[in-house]
Amino acid sequence: MRKKSFLSFLIMLLFAVTSCSSDEPTTTEPGSNLSGDAGKTLIVYFSWGGNTKTVANHIHNLIGGDIVEVETVIPYPDTYEEVTQIAPGELASDYRPELKTKVDNMDEYDTLIVGTPIWGGHLTLAMKSFLASYNLSGKAIAPFCTHGGSGTAQSVNDIRSVCPNSIILGSLAVYGSQVENSRADVERWLKQIGIIKNN
Ligand SMILES: Cc1cc2nc3c(=O)[nH]c(=O)nc-3n(C[C@H](O)[C@H](O)[C@H](O)COP(=O)(O)O)c2cc1C
Repeated sequence: MRKKSFLSFLIMLLFAVTSCSSDEPTTTEPGSNLSGDAGKTLIVYFSWGGNTKTVANHIHNLIGGDIVEVETVIPYPDTYEEVTQIAPGELASDYRPELKTKVDNMDEYDTLIVGTPIWGGHLTLAMKSFLASYNLSGKAIAPFCTHGGSGTAQSVNDIRSVCPNSIILGSLAVYGSQVENSRADVERWLKQIGIIKNN
């Protein structure tokens, strides 16, 4: 059973990588732009291997404000092999991992900058769990992801389905191997979607 789900996960992964493959260090996809001020902004991210955290830190260095890492109560295993054994079953069952991370003052935020690695072509379930825990109606969400070639894949659609009443801004995808060099592209994206205002 485990072998079967691992195999289907590999097929899904291959499909995700080849069907929408991107060798570009970063890519953007259109969405809404903020016309006014972003208001109080929270950067929130999940990162298993550190790539998404690096991009989140670029954003934080550029705009400051609050930043939160989403952590699960049961941590994911340390090795790539083990985590890829677990992830397919979780995705298939739309499992919602219990989270250590809680944001008590979510009502105060106007804009969320939401970062995730792509797992099996999707938003990670840790991030899905986080987003599903709050009423984010009317808030702006700026999605970013890091990936191994698939680009955003289904992750932005996943966010739309968990947050149907939020305003989804244009998204950014950063190739995992390029996160260290992505600061300028991150800044350009933040300007494009109106979080950093051009003078
Ligand atoms: C369980 C698992 C599934 C993954 N699935 C995909 C995928 O479908 N498409 C892709 O491009 N990369 C995939 N990757 C690669 C990660 O998205 C990429 O390495 C990302 O930068 C990792 O971010 P992190 O270091 O913040 O965890 C996967 C990695 C893991 C561990």
